[in-house]
Amino acid sequence: MARNSRQQLITYEELDSATDLTGPEQAAWQAAREATADAYAPYSGFHVGAALLLADGSIFRGTNQENAAYPSGLCAERTALFGLAAGQPAHGPIVGMAVAARPSGGDFGPAFPCGACRQVMLEYESRQGQPIPLLLPGRDGTILRFQSLAALMPFSFSADDLRSE
Ligand code: THU
Repeated sequence: MARNSRQQLITYEELDSATDLTGPEQAAWQAAREATADAYAPYSGFHVGAALLLADGSIFRGTNQENAAYPSGLCAERTALFGLAAGQPAHGPIVGMAVAARPSGGDFGPAFPCGACRQVMLEYESRQGQPIPLLLPGRDGTILRFQSLAALMPFSFSADDLRSE
């Protein structure tokens, strides 16, 4: 018999449009959408942009980068985080993140980070010791706002789990 039955809640806000965002959020949202134009997605035709908002208001962008050897490619969320960490190691805290996606020749649609990206996103959040609010385009044209990346991935694996006692 199960000892307990538990539930986990994910809290997020659903916004009707970008006009409901704060100024800096709008900048990140717009940057993620613009970044989709620079995706290298000749194989999937799915163009993804990610934007990282820094404390000084600057924005670092990522796009998905595909490869003829398919698994060698990388998602926009990870090119953004890895690119920032590699190219600007002294960057301050990331205070926001936004993602956008559209198929070739199509309209912007939903963009939900894959499991591998969530794992990476979480580690960067815990590494900086400060939550990273996230904006994702929902399935029905809404904008989903999460106060922390951790909301996306309960029961995640972390460095703590490497230390077995
Ligand atoms: N992709 C991303 O860049 N981010 C996501 O959140 C979902 C998927 C990319 C990977 C691949 O280049 C293409 O979209 C199709 O999966």
